[in-house]
Amino acid sequence: MCGIFGIVTDKEQPLGPILIEAAQRLTYRGYDSVGAATISGATIDLRKDAGRVEEVAERYNFAEMTGARGITQLRWATFGNPSQINAQPHLDSDGDLVGAHNGNVVNNVELRQAFMAEGMTVRSENDGESCVHAVERYLDRGLDFIPAIQGAYQDLQGDYAFVIGRVDDDKLYAFKKGSGLVVGIGEGFTCVSSDLPSILPLTRKVIRLEDGEIVTLWADRVELHSAEDGQLIERQPETITETMASVQKEGYDHFMLKEIHEQPVVARELLHRLDGDPDLVDQVVSKIADARNVYFIGCGTSYHACLAGAIYTAQLAGKAVIPVIAPQFAPQYGNTVTDKDVGIFVSQSGETKDVLNALEIAQAREMMCFSMANVIGSTLTRKTEAWLPLVCGYEISVPATKTFTNQVISFLYLAAKLGGVEDLDFAQLPDLMEETIRVTDPQVQALVPKINAWDDTYALGYGATYPFALESALKLKEITYAHCEGMLSTEFKHGPLSAVTDGFPVLFLAGPEDVPLIISGINEVTCRGGEAIAIGQADERLRINASDMVTIPDSNSAFAPLLAVLPLQLLSYYMAVARGYDPDFPRNLSKTLTVD
Ligand code: G6P
Repeated sequence: MCGIFGIVTDKEQPLGPILIEAAQRLTYRGYDSVGAATISGATIDLRKDAGRVEEVAERYNFAEMTGARGITQLRWATFGNPSQINAQPHLDSDGDLVGAHNGNVVNNVELRQAFMAEGMTVRSENDGESCVHAVERYLDRGLDFIPAIQGAYQDLQGDYAFVIGRVDDDKLYAFKKGSGLVVGIGEGFTCVSSDLPSILPLTRKVIRLEDGEIVTLWADRVELHSAEDGQLIERQPETITETMASVQKEGYDHFMLKEIHEQPVVARELLHRLDGDPDLVDQVVSKIADARNVYFIGCGTSYHACLAGAIYTAQLAGKAVIPVIAPQFAPQYGNTVTDKDVGIFVSQSGETKDVLNALEIAQAREMMCFSMANVIGSTLTRKTEAWLPLVCGYEISVPATKTFTNQVISFLYLAAKLGGVEDLDFAQLPDLMEETIRVTDPQVQALVPKINAWDDTYALGYGATYPFALESALKLKEITYAHCEGMLSTEFKHGPLSAVTDGFPVLFLAGPEDVPLIISGINEVTCRGGEAIAIGQADERLRINASDMVTIPDSNSAFAPLLAVLPLQLLSYYMAVARGYDPDFPRNLSKTLTVD
C-alpha cells in the first residue's frame, strides 16, 4: 500500500527533514521506493529511488531540500517495477507540475497511450505519473486548476488519492476516490496525508476528505470543492482528542477487530498487486508446473494457509502439492529433496526460525525456493529466489487474520493461473468478504454466551474447509485460552465423539458440496445431546439438522471455505473479550518467533 504526504508552509525553509519524518510514519503501509519533491519559486527539486527511506534519503540527501511546499511518497509497485524512474513523485511534460498518488489507476495503460498520442512526455510506466498528466491535459487546454482536476477525476478510473503542486504558486491540491486522505491544519502550515496517525504528530486539527472531494491547501487555510460539479463544500475541521494508540485502532476496540475488518481492503490490494505483476506470477507458476515435487511450508496459521493452498492447487490445477509444517520438513523430506523440486516458504513475519531452518536445508539441496511473507525486507524475503508479498500493511495483533486470508488468496490465485481456470471472479471476492463480515457479526455475537460456557470445543471441516477448521481452532486457542481442536469432520467419530455430553458445542464448517457428509457429522453430535453449530451457505438441510447456524453469503466451492473462516475469527475475538482477555496480546505468544 503506497502512502502520500504533502505540506504547504508560510515561508521557504528546510522541508527535507519534515518530509523524511512524514515518510517514516507511512512506512508501516509497506513500500519499495521513496521520493520527495520541494517547490521553491520556479524550481522543483525532485529526488527519488527504489529502496528504504533511510537509505534513499541519505543517498540523495533529502535533508538539504528546501522550499515552502513539499510532497513525499512511498510506493509499493503495481504499475512498473520498483526503479528510480517509476518511483514517485512525478513531473508533467514541462516540469512545471509535480504530483504523487496512492492507490491504483486501473486504466493506466490506456491513459499512457492517450497522453503520448497527445504529445505529452511520459517517462515511466507508473500510474502516479498518469495522474499528473491527467491534470496537465486540462491545464494545457486553458482550464483553471479546480476544473482541470475535475476533468482528471473523470478520466482516472480506480481507487486512489493524489496530491499535486505547480511552480510559481502558493498552493497544493489533493483529491481522492477510494483511498484515504486526511487534511491537517497547523500553525503556519497545512498538510495532507494518506492517514490520520501520520498527521497527528504535526497537528490535531483535521478534515477527513470524502470520495469525490478536492482540497486546495494554502499555508493558512484550506478549501474543499466537489470533483463532480466544482461547487464549494463547507466543512469545519475536527479536533482529534484520542490518544495515538486509539487513533491507530480507527475506532475499533482492538487491533484484531480492525484487522478482521481490513481483510476485504487488503484482499483488494493484493489482487491489484498480483494482476499488476504477471511476470512474478508466471515465474512462480511455471516453476510449480515443471517441478517434480512441490512443497508449501509454514508454521501455525501460515501452515494452515499452505494446507489450503495444496488443496486448491490439486482441485483447480490437478497438481499434487505436499504441505509441510516447517520443522517436519527436514526429518520427513530432507534427504529426498533435489534441484527438481520447488518450495514456497510462507510466514507473515518472514522471520520464523522453524521456517528459516527448513529453508536452509532446502537450499543446501538446491531446491528452488520462493517466499510468501508480509514483512518487507524480512530474512525470508531476502533469502529466496522471489518473494510474493502479502500487501497487508502492519498486522499488529498477535493472532494473524488479514495475513492469513491474503496467504490463502495468493495460493488460490496461483492455483487458478496454474490450472488455467478463468471463471473464478476474483474481483468479487473482497466484496463477498465484506458482506460476510457484516452479516455474520451479529449472528456470531448471539452465539458467544452458549459457546463461551465451555472450555473445550471442536472445529470440524471436510475437503477445502478442513484447513479453515484448523485455523478457526487455532484462533480460539490463541486468544480465549480454551481448548479447541480442529479436525477432519469424518475423524470425529473415531474417538473425540466420546467427549460429547449435553450442550457440548461442536463447530462444523460446511463447504457447499459437502453438505450431506457434514449433516451426518452433525447428527452424530446432536443425537448425543451436543450442540452442532454449522457455518455455511444458506441451506435448508443444514438449518434443520444443526442446533444453530451461521449463514455466509452464497459464492462458490473455492471462495466459500475462505469466507467461512471470517465468522470464526469474529467468534474467537468476541469470546476472548467476553472472558476479559486482550486478544491483541495473548499470554505466552509472540508475533515473531525467532527461536527453535
Ligand atoms: C507464532 C504465532 C502464530 C503464527 C506462527 C507463524 O507461533 O503465535 O500465530 O501463525 O508464529 O508465524 P509466521 O510469522 O511464520 O506466519
